[in-house]
Amino acid sequence: MDLYEYQAKDLFAAHGVPVTKGRTAETPEEVEAIATEYGTAVMVKSQVKTGGRGKAGGVKYCPDAATAKEKAKDIIGLDIKGHVTRKVLVTVAADIEEEYYVSFLLDRSNRTYLAMASKEGGMEIEELAVERPEALARVPVDAIVGVDQAKAEEIVAAARFKTEVQDQIVQILIKLWDVFTAQDATLVEVNPLVLTPNGEVIALDGKVSLDENAEFRHPDHAALVDNAAENPLELRAKEKNLNYVKLDGQVGIIGNGAGLVMSTLDVVAYAGEAHGGVKPANFLDIGGGASAEVMANGLDIILSDPDVKSVFVNVFGGITACDAVANGIVKALEILGAEANKPLVVRLDGNNVELGRRILADANHPLVTLADTMDAGADAAAALAAQN
Ligand SMILES: Nc1ncnc2c1ncn2[C@@H]1O[C@H](COP(=O)(O)OP(=O)(O)OP(=O)(O)O)[C@@H](O)[C@H]1O
Ligand SMILES: [Mg+2]
Repeated sequence: MDLYEYQAKDLFAAHGVPVTKGRTAETPEEVEAIATEYGTAVMVKSQVKTGGRGKAGGVKYCPDAATAKEKAKDIIGLDIKGHVTRKVLVTVAADIEEEYYVSFLLDRSNRTYLAMASKEGGMEIEELAVERPEALARVPVDAIVGVDQAKAEEIVAAARFKTEVQDQIVQILIKLWDVFTAQDATLVEVNPLVLTPNGEVIALDGKVSLDENAEFRHPDHAALVDNAAENPLELRAKEKNLNYVKLDGQVGIIGNGAGLVMSTLDVVAYAGEAHGGVKPANFLDIGGGASAEVMANGLDIILSDPDVKSVFVNVFGGITACDAVANGIVKALEILGAEANKPLVVRLDGNNVELGRRILADANHPLVTLADTMDAGADAAAALAAQN
């Protein structure tokens, strides 16, 4: 789960990382009231879970409360890459002498954690990483040792921060690592970390992603979820314990096992190229025990996605054999009744495949087509999506 900037900075503050004080607001009047209370220049900042807010006009400097109210009118409602601003953060504006970058993340390809740091932070860090990779220090962090004084000094040295800020950044890195481990994060990023004219180093932005696999250890994280900003289909899927991710294509996908579902997405995307570029509409792994109820829940969510024009069910029968899956599909279609209104292509393979196919053939449901292979199924589903 990605956090909003203000949530990330609340965590930073709780772990002793210096930030500017701030509060969120949803109306220009509230923004004005906060700015009046602070009595200083403030920044009004769009709170959306996407990058590039500044460039999109979502971060504005406001010398006084009246300006803050005016700027808030532009920012509230502002759409940034499909994310509509409903909340803004009103925070004290800092004077900036230099902007830096620091982050900790999970480095999956190297099976370790990684610290990144640069003395050239700010809004173009992604470009910097591509154009001048040497300006972005990368230091692996051992999961057991973590970021102690010595590791923090190593990171600071690798990024060649100037002497006068080194001690402060070392302390900040140790505390950010505390945030990273204590909260079970997969990303903690500060861009920019700034040096003010009076020599203080503070975090002006914050990005934190929490590892949902560790949710059970953090009952307090539930309060960080913003249901209104979640995709409604994903929210419903979560309530039903389904592993579902909404994508932007037209072919609904149901499979069992994350690996099979991932390859199904690839195969459908590839087949879709020959049918006007149709693409998978979602990821949905119904897991090992594909009962009729799980199948019905999965189909229900996929069929209620208005983007979906056809569905491809690609299941490999293992412990739950193909006949059980086929019965699950037949029952699911019964349960859904008239709600099932889009063509389904089903490909079954594995244990009891013959029996499974026979069950579906006998049921003879008008919406269901059987496919013999994954490629044929993907092609048929893509063709149906292109027609509808
Ligand atoms: N409290 C603040 N005081 C002064 N300047 C600020 C403050 N917060 C942000 N800024 C300035 O605005 C710029 C953009 O802000 P910020 O980094 O929060 O958003 P962003 O980088 O555009 O968004 P994202 O991180 O989503 O890409 C910063 O680089 C900094 O120069
Ligand atoms: Mg930023």
